[in-house]
Amino acid sequence: MAKNIAVIGTGYVGLVSSVGLADFGNIVTGVDLRADIVDTLNSGRPTIYEIGLDSYLQRNIEAERLHFTTNGDDTIAAADIVFVAVGTPPKEDGHADLSQIEGVARQIAANLTGYKVIVTKSTVPVGTNRRIQQIIATESGQTPGRGFSVVSNPEFLREGKAVQDFFHPDRIVLGYEDERAREYMEDVYRALYLIQTPFVWCNLETAELIKYASNAFLATKITFINQMANLAEATGADIHTIAKSMGMDGRISPKFLHPGPGYGGSCFPKDTKAVAATGDEYGVDMSLIKEVIRGNDRQKTITAGKLVKLMGGSPAGKTVAVLGLAFKAETDDVRESPAIEIVQELLREGATVRAFDPEGIENFRSAVIGEGPFGGGLNSDLREKIAEAAAERLHYCTDEFNALDGADALIIVTEWNVFRNLDLDRAALLMTGRVIFDARNVLDPEHAREKGFTYAGVGRV
Ligand SMILES: NC(=O)c1ccc[n+]([C@@H]2O[C@H](COP(=O)([O-])OP(=O)(O)OC[C@H]3O[C@@H](n4cnc5c(N)ncnc54)[C@H](O)[C@@H]3O)[C@@H](O)[C@H]2O)c1
Repeated sequence: MAKNIAVIGTGYVGLVSSVGLADFGNIVTGVDLRADIVDTLNSGRPTIYEIGLDSYLQRNIEAERLHFTTNGDDTIAAADIVFVAVGTPPKEDGHADLSQIEGVARQIAANLTGYKVIVTKSTVPVGTNRRIQQIIATESGQTPGRGFSVVSNPEFLREGKAVQDFFHPDRIVLGYEDERAREYMEDVYRALYLIQTPFVWCNLETAELIKYASNAFLATKITFINQMANLAEATGADIHTIAKSMGMDGRISPKFLHPGPGYGGSCFPKDTKAVAATGDEYGVDMSLIKEVIRGNDRQKTITAGKLVKLMGGSPAGKTVAVLGLAFKAETDDVRESPAIEIVQELLREGATVRAFDPEGIENFRSAVIGEGPFGGGLNSDLREKIAEAAAERLHYCTDEFNALDGADALIIVTEWNVFRNLDLDRAALLMTGRVIFDARNVLDPEHAREKGFTYAGVGRV
């Protein structure tokens, strides 16, 4: 039976979930604190860039299965199921900041008008769902399993493929405690049941840790291949052939073996730090993942350093075209994007930067000067210096060719398809210099050299 669903927080996860759950036939109300987000969404325009999201959004609004509001109290009171998809950003010490989650738990307790299932989609450390349960029970006076139930349903969507991932997930993980909650969740996800999506039913703690284990493993794979790429480069081997051959081994799989400037985004950096912090809390050795975090930080510095070396030393007074600002292709998300550190480093060293990204420019503006929780952790002095340098020497361009105009060097930081077929004849005409550092290995090295460029990629000669 279709359910009345509230989704609290309409960011990447909350918006895609709202749209997807409505498309399954449920009546969904998305709640966000930000009135600008709510207004934009109600007008049928997505607030994030994801392929296909606009048509799903419009279709479900028109069918009157989906709308958005800032009124959390009434929406929660009317809902059978409350999905929680607010942010869990990192604190200084690496632990996840759970203040948004706990605030929502209190709001749910205050509006618990009848039995409801509370479903946590946000990525939360082990023990958080139990804490949510405790807050709701204490503040509402209701008993878990009777007055309400808590379910842990971590989200695995990939930005850039979020809509596709929602409708065709590899698995649905559900941590639960009582049969009534299980029946509610079976109803919600019936459409996925019917297409034989694997469902993992487990306890709350297992569900919470599955998410961290998965992200920590993927981050490890990326850091592993980046370090192998650096070794391949130093020894004259080719990382693509190595990665391809490794991937032919069914135990390894070819996924996540693409070398680059280091992982970024809103998940891997914060989730690896959070799981390491959880290990410390429980006195469990998480040295492997701690080294992954350090290795990934170094990879960003190594990337900036390679570009500077390729340019023959200091880039002061030179112009660098930076293509790609988002942390990966097909998204406008720049949180913890390697491009932030690379552009900051170039500005610090006195270069002029001509930057372009097909979707991420607006988000990048504030991130590069260190504003907001994902702004690169700059202290206030450094932030001021970067802001000053950015005002003078950071130019946002209308397209890739505009960015190349007058550039001494080019660095490709994000693997957008449009950069794969970059017209190098036109680039040569526009650029004053002939240096290309392809930090994503999207160009053909031979072709670039034939066109007269000094070309370097990652882990290949
Ligand atoms: N982005 C991803 O690819 C991804 C993937 C899997 C899991 N996750 C996890 O999902 C969670 C959300 O991530 P996101 O990227 O969607 O975050 P986000 O920052 O894009 O969105 C969070 C939204 O919640 C809103 N919000 C905060 N407190 C609120 C409240 N009390 N009431 C209503 N709205 C409130 C904010 O205004 C914001 O719009 C995080 O825990 C994240 O780790 C994210």
